[in-house]
Formats: sequence, structure tokens, C-alpha cells
Amino acid sequence: MILALETSCDDTCAAVVDGPRVLSNVVSSQAALHAQFGGVVPEVASRHHLELVNPVVDAALQGAGCGLQDIDAIAVTTHPGLIGALLVGVNSAKSLAAATRKPLIAVDHLHGHFAAALLGPDPLEPPFLGLIASGGHTLLASVPDPAYYEVIGRTLDDAAGEALDKAARLLGLGYPGGPAIQREAEGGDPEAFPFPVAMIQGGGLDFSFSGLKTALVYTVRDLAAGEVEARRADLAASYQAAVVAQLIAKLDRALKGGSWDAVALGGGVAANAHLRARAGALCERRSVRLKLVSLDLCTDNAAMIGSAARYLTPVDYPGYLDWDAAATARPPRSKVSPPGRA
Ligand code: KG4
Ligand code: ZN
Repeated sequence: MILALETSCDDTCAAVVDGPRVLSNVVSSQAALHAQFGGVVPEVASRHHLELVNPVVDAALQGAGCGLQDIDAIAVTTHPGLIGALLVGVNSAKSLAAATRKPLIAVDHLHGHFAAALLGPDPLEPPFLGLIASGGHTLLASVPDPAYYEVIGRTLDDAAGEALDKAARLLGLGYPGGPAIQREAEGGDPEAFPFPVAMIQGGGLDFSFSGLKTALVYTVRDLAAGEVEARRADLAASYQAAVVAQLIAKLDRALKGGSWDAVALGGGVAANAHLRARAGALCERRSVRLKLVSLDLCTDNAAMIGSAARYLTPVDYPGYLDWDAAATARPPRSKVSPPGRA
């Protein structure tokens, strides 16, 4: 059994996994706290992780019906993320592991998003093509085995979730923006505003969302007073459709360029109903299996970190005492768990 911790952004998460089985998956979201600022304030996130991490770990153990003595190894996200937020998880995990002389496993957050697809029920077996779309990242990757992923396309500017969060703020829909845009879009016409879908002709497998955001800024600026409110549902639906259209276009291009049997979606934006529906239709058309993880495994959680950790080599005490956190992505390259140094 693995106890996993995840504190890379604004969710304080702990989980217990036993093979592909999730025994508990506790997420204490700080979203309401950051909503007043319209986005995550890193220093505020770190302070709240400090307050929440011990109760969240206790709740995860209690939810799994076990104690620390039953845990074989502890896993923690060491990169990438907000450095102060990561440090809380890394130091808590090191302390828990050192005090009980248990092994520690360093996990790459993005590897965790892919590894969510390897959890039950009905776990996916690599190789597969993975699309991660979250608040901090948007990338396509080849996942040839459970311990490794290779990036084949990434955003050149904003992440898809960031584009949704910024649009929601502009439309007065609050934070986090993705779910708010989805709710508002339900009553709108996705074809009402012809927002640009970037990089459709070129750009290989890379993404770009900054032009779309600018297009929304100009559209809102040019609407008459009161019209933004009256047409908010149409704006949300059209904007959401443009974000999803680009994700789907690149997924399709990657499918056409390779010989894939399966696709997995991950990251917070993968919770989006419109994206899930369009990915379903695309994979059906291309006759590939689509693995859609449950909504609580799309957004940040520690079960996915525990899942990735299953395939990495634990480091015994005291080998991890000098481990650190790193803000940048560094995919696992081998089955040896890398220490989280920058
Ligand atoms: O994976 P995640 O929880 O954290 C990061 O690693 O960034 O993703 C958070 C992002 C936010 O931008 C949020 O607005 C977006 O995922 N999101 C959604 C939905 N739920 C969360 N975007 C679209 N539709 C949703 N239902
Ligand atoms: Zn994430």
C-alpha cells in the first residue's frame, strides 16, 4: 500500500492506493479561498497547505481503514508546480517517511495525470496516446510503459485551463473558470461567435491559446453596454467550443500520425463534458479505445500520484533526506525514481 501526497498547486491531497485500487482519495480544495483574487496566489496556497496537510493525511489513512504502520512506501509530487506549495508536500512526506523509516518515491505531477488512467476500475494498459489539459499544462504524450511518458506536443503559450480561467474572469464568471464556463455554456450557442481555432493548419502537435484569449478581449470590448451580460452564455459556449476544437484537432492529428490503439485524457480540463463528448466521437470514428477517468481523477488528486509511484523505484531511508522540490517539468526517464532536484 502506498500513501501519496500532492500539493503542487492549490489542492491539498492525500490518498492510499493498493495496486490499481484507490482505498481513499482526499482533496481539500482551496478554490473558494483563491476565488476572491481571481486565481491562485502562490504564497496563500503554501500557507494553507501547511495547515491542511496533516488533517488531510489523517483523513486519507482513516478513509482507507489503515494506519501508517500498514503503509509500504510514501509517494509525493516533487515537480513541476508552485515551488512553495510543492515544498510543503515534499517536507511532509520526507518527515513521515523518515520518522517511520519507510521508503520515499518522488513523482512527476504530469506522470501522475497519465497514471490516473492506470487505476481501476478497468485500468488502461500502455502503450497509449495521452492528452493532458490542465490549468498549468497542455500536452500530448506517448506513454509507452507505465513508468515513462514522452512529450510529442505542448502549448507554446497558455494552458487550456488557463485560457478558460482567464475567459471566465473576463466574463465575470469567477474561479475556477473551467467549470463556470461549462455551466454558462449549457444555455448558449457554440456558433454564435466565430472565435479562432489556432494552429489548425500548422504548428505540428503544439497548441496555442493566447490568440483566442485576445479575440475574446476584443469581442467583449466591442459589444455594446449590457450586451456582454445578455450574451454571456453564447460567449461562454463559443469560447469553450474553440478551446475544445483545438484540443480535438491536435488529438486527431496525433492519431493520424501514429498507430495508437488507445487514448487517455487527463488534467482538470478533461472533466469538461463537451471535450469528453467530442473525444468520444473522435475515438469512435478512428476505432481506438478512449479511457475517460472519473472527474475526481481528472482534477488534481493524490491517487494519481500513488498510481505513478507504483512503477518507480522507492528510495530507502536515509537516501531521500536531501530531496528538494522543482518548479519545472522533468519527465521520468527510467524506472529509478529521480530525486526532486532542479
Ligand atoms: O489538473 P488541475 O486540477 O490542476 C492543474 O494541474 O492545473 O486543472 C485545473 C484546471 C483549471 O484551469 C480549471 O478551470 C479546469 O482545470 N477545469 C475545467 C473543468 N474542471 C476543471 N475546465 C473545463 N471544464 C471543467 N469541467
Ligand atoms: Zn494537475
